[in-house]
Amino acid sequence: MNKLPNYKILRYLFCILFNLNFSSILLLLKNGISSFRRYLGLSNKLYFFLNPNSKIPSKHIYDIFNVNQIPEIRLIPSKSEGIETPIDELAYLALITAIKQPKFIFEIGTYKGRTALNFALNSPPDAIIYTMDLPRDQLDVSTLGKADKKIALSSNPTLEYTGYEVSYKIVQIYANSLTYDFSPYYDKIDLMFIDGGHSEECVRSDTENALKMVKKGGIIIWHDFMNVSEYYPVTKVIYELKDKGFEIYRIMNTELCILLK
Ligand SMILES: C[S@@+](CC[C@H](N)C(=O)[O-])C[C@H]1O[C@@H](n2cnc3c(N)ncnc32)[C@H](O)[C@@H]1O
Repeated sequence: MNKLPNYKILRYLFCILFNLNFSSILLLLKNGISSFRRYLGLSNKLYFFLNPNSKIPSKHIYDIFNVNQIPEIRLIPSKSEGIETPIDELAYLALITAIKQPKFIFEIGTYKGRTALNFALNSPPDAIIYTMDLPRDQLDVSTLGKADKKIALSSNPTLEYTGYEVSYKIVQIYANSLTYDFSPYYDKIDLMFIDGGHSEECVRSDTENALKMVKKGGIIIWHDFMNVSEYYPVTKVIYELKDKGFEIYRIMNTELCILLK
């Protein structure tokens, strides 16, 4: 098995059969279903990370970008609660920014501004970080899935990036990425980070726009790769791009995937 099955029921079955063991059962009995599910999900991600035949190969950033000189990074970890993105993923985003030195960054999904701040901290002084989240005045979450809805309702763009010496680089856009006109950015973006809505419609649309916006030599990064349940569309869309011949890697042992254009 080198990829997750497309059908939900098969994905769940696969995840249970491949990852059920003594530890997972112990967790189920002692901690309940959510720890059990978490264990299966993490173990599943580890399986594909270690499997040398995975459809999306895992690589270290230094190998992806052929880096000899390791750059310094600046990191300001999240001060707010809400989403559980591990700090190492934030560090990888900072490292990619420090290596690529992108002038134009576009992020879909600001949340509280933590990733936007870390892009600003590690990009050149004249970089611009556009970061988009849903309009505040009429925060419409009616079309979002359960997990996305919960996140959108606790979002608070600008909260985490305000008040730093690099804040001037960040341009906040309030719009729904499904209806926004991205054409002014076509062929202009060096680094695109897709971390907004996770429905198939949204991931597909954000990805199609990103492919038009990112210039040759630029990169697209997705968060939430290898998720078995509600966020599976990210993986599905990435698998499709791989089938079309795009150069894509998973960043070692993370949920980050990167496309080199
Ligand atoms: C996972 S959070 C982003 C996390 C952030 N990048 C970080 O790591 O700190 C996803 C965000 O996307 C926003 N979002 C969801 N659907 C969207 C859409 N269609 N257009 C714009 N933003 C969207 C949500 O409001 C939420 O704040």
